[in-house]
Amino acid sequence: MDRIIVLGGKGGVGKSSISAATAVKLSQLLPNKRILIISFDIAHNLTDLFQKEIGNKITQLNNNLWGIEPDPNIYAEEYTDNLLKKMKAFSKQMPLVGLIPQIETFINTTFTADSIPLALKNAMFFQKILDAEDLTQKIQFDIIIADFPPTGNMIALFEIPEDQVKVVVKYTINFFNSIRKTINNFSNILGNIIHPLSENKNRDELGDEIINMIREVERRGDRVTQLIHEIGSLRLVTIAEKPSYEEMKRAKNLTKKYIDLDGIHINMSTPKDSAEKCNFCENQRTIQLKYIKEIKEEFQNYTIWESQKLRKEPIGFEGLIELANEIYGEKITAEEIFNPKFQN
Ligand SMILES: Nc1ncnc2c1ncn2[C@@H]1O[C@H](COP(=O)(O)OP(=O)(O)OP(=O)(O)O)[C@@H](O)[C@H]1O
Ligand SMILES: [Mg+2]
Repeated sequence: MDRIIVLGGKGGVGKSSISAATAVKLSQLLPNKRILIISFDIAHNLTDLFQKEIGNKITQLNNNLWGIEPDPNIYAEEYTDNLLKKMKAFSKQMPLVGLIPQIETFINTTFTADSIPLALKNAMFFQKILDAEDLTQKIQFDIIIADFPPTGNMIALFEIPEDQVKVVVKYTINFFNSIRKTINNFSNILGNIIHPLSENKNRDELGDEIINMIREVERRGDRVTQLIHEIGSLRLVTIAEKPSYEEMKRAKNLTKKYIDLDGIHINMSTPKDSAEKCNFCENQRTIQLKYIKEIKEEFQNYTIWESQKLRKEPIGFEGLIELANEIYGEKITAEEIFNPKFQN
């Protein structure tokens, strides 16, 4: 994988439109690269943007561009079902478990997809797609463009692979080890009258498999965190208004520890020619120009892409290319989109 491009920012500023426009532009500039655009907003809208049904399956959009609007439950269920099966098989090997009903209840309620928070489910999916070592993936992608939800949920997505998975994993492993120890102590006291030695062995192997499965989540979290640090590139989108700009400044600080910020998009400014024709638009533009100046000062070390409000909604391939040209200009190279930091 070459690059993971993440678009973030306040609600409604154009993250999804710019993600889609960037994906289409890169697919044209780099016909030999496989590109995947993923929506991480539960209120998916790639289907509307591309005017093609996308949904939970990786769907081909043109020669080298695919899209997905994942249902995070499905990926969480895969994991929890598998773990639950093993946990239950493990508990069945333990005749004493009937004496500790809390264990069964704990297993049943803790490891269900429903009990996993949405951000963790999304993170599980994000990790599965990004994890190059996951050989279950049929298509390996060179470039991933992630359309993230507004700032708060975006941070949760970054946090999880880095911190929370570890907490969940450690908690689960500790819990599991304590059950295992208790059961083994009981077994030792009662000797092999209750279970023959061979069954104990089987139980131990199953226990190791469970621990391994849990540890794999942790290892995957580490691999993905490293990958995001190495090839992740965050671009924050704002409109030239105070609330969105203030949120972008906060997002810059909040994301610092997870991913490199490489560029800023100032979207949907009022075009000069329409401002000249209407008083209201002219006022709007005056206010916007003041914020654009402030944003340029605040983010002077970053590449800033400006895009005005288009007359037509940027949807469908044509609309998205028009938006891409508005953002990047017609002469942009893939390298400039990829590594904006290295422009003057
Ligand atoms: N440059 C532009 N010119 C005209 N319309 C635009 C432009 N950029 C975005 N839009 C429109 O603005 C609206 C919001 O855009 P979009 O859905 O991409 O924002 P978002 O940040 O992804 O929103 P959300 O936070 O809800 O996910 C859409 O109707 C989109 O078509
Ligand atoms: Mg969106």
